[in-house]
Amino acid sequence: MKALVYHGPGQKQLEDMPKPVLREATDAVVHVTKTTICGTDLHILKGDLPTVTAGRILGHEGIGIVEEAGTGVTRFRKGGRVLISCITSCAKCDYCRRGMPSHCETGGWILGNTIDGTQAEYVRIPYADTSLYALPEGADEDAMVMLSDILPTGYECGVLNGAVKPGDTVALVGAGPVGLSALLTTQFYAPARIIVIDLDDNRLEVAKQFGATAVVNSTDGKAVEKVMAMTGGKGVDVAIEAVGVPATFNICQEIVGAGGHLANIGVHGTSVNLRLEKLWSQNITLTTRLVDAVTTPLLLKTVMAGRLQPKRLITHHFKLDEILKAYDTFGNAGKERALKVIVTNP
Ligand SMILES: NC(=O)c1ccc[n+]([C@@H]2O[C@H](COP(=O)([O-])OP(=O)(O)OC[C@H]3O[C@@H](n4cnc5c(N)ncnc54)[C@H](O)[C@@H]3O)[C@@H](O)[C@H]2O)c1
Ligand SMILES: [Zn+2]
Ligand SMILES: [Zn+2]
Repeated sequence: MKALVYHGPGQKQLEDMPKPVLREATDAVVHVTKTTICGTDLHILKGDLPTVTAGRILGHEGIGIVEEAGTGVTRFRKGGRVLISCITSCAKCDYCRRGMPSHCETGGWILGNTIDGTQAEYVRIPYADTSLYALPEGADEDAMVMLSDILPTGYECGVLNGAVKPGDTVALVGAGPVGLSALLTTQFYAPARIIVIDLDDNRLEVAKQFGATAVVNSTDGKAVEKVMAMTGGKGVDVAIEAVGVPATFNICQEIVGAGGHLANIGVHGTSVNLRLEKLWSQNITLTTRLVDAVTTPLLLKTVMAGRLQPKRLITHHFKLDEILKAYDTFGNAGKERALKVIVTNP
């Protein structure tokens, strides 16, 4: 089968790989019909994630059709249409039972990380019963791909951890697909103002269409001053970091107001300088989180009810054969005006 294989920092190839087989009774093999590329895949290619070793098939998002289900799988059978969660959950270990499957002792974020992922014709899904969702009848397949990772990520790591309340002023740093997912889901809570910060005017324009009340292009290095001026010097109630570099974490820690929340989403490859000498007295809450994807059922219902339109995040379509072009497009998002790309494998 064809698959996108990582060969160390900066190196990837579309290759022929053996089709995965069932290893445990609780596994399923899924024919991936649609997948996509995540900002995290770009971090992997930068060498930010040492857990990903050469030879790994990348990808942790997608939908597909069950090709084969192990004898221990009770909820899915061959031919079933499924949504693949980026988080694999055994549902039995201490972490899973505490509602934190991102740290599942034998699962968590393993797809396209420590086991082969979804940017391939087929993928092996461990604990299929508790790591796959049946696609609802009539579901828009492109929209469903957004539920594997980015929507639960924006919602759980950004909005829920940021504890957004009605009337809040929320600043979102990073208007990539994850930041925009946080922008869409933060509106569940009716914040008064949503300020979106990015370097890319096209993405900021999209942010306005998605409900941002103000946008700031931080290319001039003046984002902090501008946000402080917009908030009468008080700073924001919730600062959500959705990039994963020191510069954007810094913006967040400078603009979070007294009693505020700084919710980090970005995957960071280097350390940041925590301004504790300024923040110690500010009653802030700083959170980090690897997405647990425990809100997928909630988000599925919201999408099916038409209350959330994640399809708006999709800008480009490619075939699996063209996945290198898809990476180029997503990697040059500014120039290509790209958000999420859908990679189809009929
Ligand atoms: N915590 C989790 O579980 C989790 C899950 C998925 C993704 N992520 C992470 O979320 C982050 C965002 O993902 P994405 O897919 O939206 O990525 P992306 O690369 O598409 O978007 C990042 C955005 O940040 C902007 N940006 C870059 N540098 C900036 C700067 N200095 N100032 C302002 N804006 C800047 C870019 O223009 C871009 O719009 C990534 O770090 C990704 O790895 C985390
Ligand atoms: Zn991801
Ligand atoms: Zn577990």
